[in-house]
Amino acid sequence: MALWGGRFTEAADERFKRFNDSLVFDYRLAIQDIEGSMGWARAINSVGIINAEELEKLENALQELLDEVHQDPEKIAHAGLEDIHSYVESRLIEKVGDLGKKLHTGRSRNDQVALDIKMWCRDQSKVLLKSITELEKVLTATAKEHYDTVMPGYTHLQRAQPITFGHWAMAYCEMFDRDYHRLVNAVSLMDACPLGSAALAGTAYPVDRDKLARDLGFSRATRNSLDSVSDRDHIVEIMNCASISMIHLSRMAEDLIIYNSGESAFVELSDKVTSGSSLMPQKKNPDALELIRGKTGRVFGDQMGMMTTLKALPLAYDKDMQEDKEGLFDAMDTWHDCLEMAALVFEGMKVRKDRTMQAAKGGYSNATELADYLVGKGIPFREAHGIVGKAVVYAISQDKPLEELTVAEFHKFSDVISDDVYPLLQIESILSKRSARGGVNLSRISEAVSLMEKELETREV
Ligand code: ARG
Repeated sequence: MALWGGRFTEAADERFKRFNDSLVFDYRLAIQDIEGSMGWARAINSVGIINAEELEKLENALQELLDEVHQDPEKIAHAGLEDIHSYVESRLIEKVGDLGKKLHTGRSRNDQVALDIKMWCRDQSKVLLKSITELEKVLTATAKEHYDTVMPGYTHLQRAQPITFGHWAMAYCEMFDRDYHRLVNAVSLMDACPLGSAALAGTAYPVDRDKLARDLGFSRATRNSLDSVSDRDHIVEIMNCASISMIHLSRMAEDLIIYNSGESAFVELSDKVTSGSSLMPQKKNPDALELIRGKTGRVFGDQMGMMTTLKALPLAYDKDMQEDKEGLFDAMDTWHDCLEMAALVFEGMKVRKDRTMQAAKGGYSNATELADYLVGKGIPFREAHGIVGKAVVYAISQDKPLEELTVAEFHKFSDVISDDVYPLLQIESILSKRSARGGVNLSRISEAVSLMEKELETREV
């Protein structure tokens, strides 16, 4: 039975009911709805609407319901009621009779749903913060193992300068670290409780909303009832956190797909996260990574859908807002699964040091060093750049790396070059010169790893 039958003489069309009902997806707010209802029961007790004995009965019945939900959360989805709020209220009435009908005094489903979804965002963010941390730990461990595994660094997907696999892993760890803090910030911004705003104008009972807010784990109450029931910023914001993090996941997936290709063969993905081809027996496809890359578009779409729904909605609550849930659930689930899968990809992934070293040595990635060497001998950089360009063309024609050209060959391009150039063209020298903070000097890389390890150890998740 609907909660609002009194004004109606005709039953709703079955098709409308199906179109309008949200229980099939908002059953996922059951825990938050019950906890919020417990808080409201205490609030209306404090203003004398229910007495202590009634409060105890309500709380016990709500606790029973909570235990049932924990046992089988999905059972509710097909109970045939309009939404999670109707479900909780009617189960409560089943358990405690008419007393259950008192709970909705001074409350509306508008502030109720605003509360539930905020609590859900807060609870789910905790789960996500944990998954981000796990991934950061895996990346830091990978970086520690491979802090000195030389590989080419790219710009424009052209081999540019040598880096190490550890430095690459820490680059992604930095991104996920920002994702972590971005989500922490989003959670702190949503830390205001809307309950007590009622339908739109505020509850007509003198409830202490600040106390109620603290009772429900918020640090403050919202300040404007109209805004409280129509605010969905927090949804957009955590979806934005998801989208940005998915960009990072997708870029990392793309790098690894390239590194895993036959052409690079820098890494070999484990059998745990790859699949075979039904036709070509030799293949091992990077499906986990491709799906991470693919699901990124889906999360962006969820966020764009939410923003489009909110755009131009008149104050305060409109039923359009019911569309806030499926996209949110989907984005957060997808983000969570992708973080988990990304961490799994690193387990058992082999890095082929011989291949990464060979690639770093090829591709003339020490050309900048030669230009710097010429600068050291008094040649202006722009001119040095031109000289090295010509030397590279020559070396390519001889099928040799720069460091294998003889001094006599170098003299075709500049007579300032002598034997002292060779040590500078070695990878070890290229790495060690980049010793300013954030560079690829090996002790800088180790330093970055240990700083991150320390941060992750102290993290409470
Ligand atoms: N199922 C609704 C939603 O998700 C709950 C709020 C209903 N409020 C109303 N005035 N019809 O938005």
